[in-house]
Amino acid sequence: MTKTVLIKNIEICYTSNENPPVKGARMSKIDVFHNAYLILENDKIKEIGTNFIGSENRFDVVYNASGLIAIPGLIDSHTHLVFGGSREHEFAQKIAGVPYLEILKRGGGILSTVEMTKKASFDELFLQAKKSLDEMLLFGVTTIEAKSGYGLSLDTEIKQLTVLKKLNDTHPIDIHITYLGAHALPKEFHNDRSAFIKQIKQDLIMIQKEGLAEFVDVFCETGVFSAEETREILIQAKELGFGLRVHTDEIESIGGTAVALDLNAKTVDHLMALKEVDMIRLAQSNTIANLLPSTSFFLNKEYAPARKMIEMGMALAISSDYNPGSTPSENFQLTLQIAGNKLRMNPQEILTAATINPAYSLNISDHLGKLAVGYQADILLLEAKNLDYFIYHYGINHTKAVFKSGELVVDNRIRVEDSK
Ligand code: NIG
Ligand code: FE
Repeated sequence: MTKTVLIKNIEICYTSNENPPVKGARMSKIDVFHNAYLILENDKIKEIGTNFIGSENRFDVVYNASGLIAIPGLIDSHTHLVFGGSREHEFAQKIAGVPYLEILKRGGGILSTVEMTKKASFDELFLQAKKSLDEMLLFGVTTIEAKSGYGLSLDTEIKQLTVLKKLNDTHPIDIHITYLGAHALPKEFHNDRSAFIKQIKQDLIMIQKEGLAEFVDVFCETGVFSAEETREILIQAKELGFGLRVHTDEIESIGGTAVALDLNAKTVDHLMALKEVDMIRLAQSNTIANLLPSTSFFLNKEYAPARKMIEMGMALAISSDYNPGSTPSENFQLTLQIAGNKLRMNPQEILTAATINPAYSLNISDHLGKLAVGYQADILLLEAKNLDYFIYHYGINHTKAVFKSGELVVDNRIRVEDSK
């Protein structure tokens, strides 16, 4: 049976209507509708307009959005959602100034989360991740990408990937799953790196056969995986039909972006240390520069040169990088506010970077990332006067309501249950 919804009296509705990847100056182009309305039919947007007149009786649901602004549901295209435990025991070292890679070298960091993830049961991981996902939904996130990477051995990686699959099947947030088997070198392989790379390549075959992931990622960084090791893994992943995403140029620049571009990766992520030559190539490509400013914030690091990147014509996305080490926060709205304040991106660019561009990187931009007729009805209603206010008034949750695939899943900042 057809279900129809009218969202009326929206103060201002904002959406990109550009064709992705949305690069450079086009990132600032946002359509603005005052006194707007949206008509939903089942899971899709049927009509978008201004000054609604006509009978409201024909709708199954009428939502009065008076005093609210509307934007597309937020898309967070880089998270490490599933992990065991937490790392507050390393926080004292971190604030005393011990570098991130030094904590990893001492067997902490990613490796300590690997230990906790190995020990955790499927149900423990599921419940912990579900709690985070519920938080994300309250912040208006309706689609995420989420990675494995805290197993570093096939059984635990599969445990993470299947937790993600079950969450995707049962939670309103859509999850696009990435296999990050090469997130760190496990202790047992310290004297035989090539054996680990060989193992990952072997495991990829199984991951593909079982349909456990859509994308493959590698952490290309000094002391983690080299550009050549990254290339070796990603070539195999590409041959198997995976989309590619790469953690690169976070702390040092060792060639990961060039490898990613050679292989036509969907995203390169972090990029605080990106070199000029790579910037030029990236601007000419269809690879999205996925910036993670809350990681710079939490690690007290440099921020990626977003202004320069936009001036050079790159297509940017902003993601949370939610994880237990470098970004232990599900507050994606805060990430966007940091993008304003620290990356100096304007609110229009930020909206593009949190909707249509990440949708492109996840291969879903034909039906998500815009408020447009025929698109999936993923809509965020914010208690904010305008888009600038949403980015400027930082640290709080502006969400009033969230529609996911045409269903009201959050209202008055409270989760409406049983929606998937
Ligand atoms: O994207 N940089 C590598 N991986 C994660 C951090 C993971 C962790 O510290 O647990 C990141 O920041
Ligand atoms: Fe990450």
